[in-house]
Amino acid sequence: MLASDLRHALDPAAFAKDALCFEPDPWQEDALRLRGKRLLLNCCRQSGKSTTAAILALHTALFRPASLVLLVSPSLRQSSELFRKVQDMFKALTPVARQVLVEDNRLSLVMPNKSRIVSLPGKEGTIRGFSGASLIIEDEAARVPDELYKAVRPMLAVSGGRLILMSTPFGKRGHFFHEWDEGGSTWERIRIPAPACPRIAADFLAEERQALGDWWFRQEYLCEFAETVDQAFSYEHVARAVSTEIKPLFGGEPGE
Ligand SMILES: Nc1ncnc2c1ncn2[C@@H]1O[C@H](COP(=O)(O)OP(=O)(O)OP(=O)(O)O)[C@@H](O)[C@H]1O
Ligand SMILES: [Mg+2]
Repeated sequence: MLASDLRHALDPAAFAKDALCFEPDPWQEDALRLRGKRLLLNCCRQSGKSTTAAILALHTALFRPASLVLLVSPSLRQSSELFRKVQDMFKALTPVARQVLVEDNRLSLVMPNKSRIVSLPGKEGTIRGFSGASLIIEDEAARVPDELYKAVRPMLAVSGGRLILMSTPFGKRGHFFHEWDEGGSTWERIRIPAPACPRIAADFLAEERQALGDWWFRQEYLCEFAETVDQAFSYEHVARAVSTEIKPLFGGEPGE
């Protein structure tokens, strides 16, 4: 019992298999096992992002007593759906591992070990008041407002917690794209286009390409950051037009 607890504490993929009877896809297994503090998951539609987020949330809350896990989604509907996945996972726990919840609301739960999982919709006001998060996961991060991202990051300052952004791309804009493209080596990155997801059939993808058109298909299923449809200049053109050598006329540093 003690040995399996220790194994599950150290290995969220083993925890998912044994305690939740959930068989992760190979990419989910990799994502569950990464230990870094900053993780970017660029995954196609229906690849299993939210499911992975729910497992990670539950694992952290169970094995780190008194931890705060925040799940951030772009809308109330999405945060409710994600929280339902956490609740379903919790119910799937084998009776030995399951603990009686101290509190179980529509968007948050508290465990006897004092850990909390809170699922928040994408409004900056809902975030204020939380601090010291052990884990923050943004689901559909490409659609979470940048102001919210800026409000969330300081909550990791004291706790030294983890930050995971997971999303399907949504144009060359916003913090998810910028961290993916320019965030540097502090981030670990996993990219999962649809052909790498064992549950998405090739003939379905061919039908989707026909129905959605190339632009949407590349974004939704091939994880490409496509230019936004109404963009007059490409991201590369704008980036190349910015010089770090020319000094601004009025204050500031070159390239600012
Ligand atoms: N390893 C797995 N084995 C079996 N089914 C899985 C696995 N991972 C996810 N699923 C199922 O695949 C479906 C999509 O999962 P999920 O909602 O987590 O994906 P998503 O990437 O968040 O999708 P979306 O892009 O629509 O938000 C769900 O029905 C989920 O139960
Ligand atoms: Mg999802």
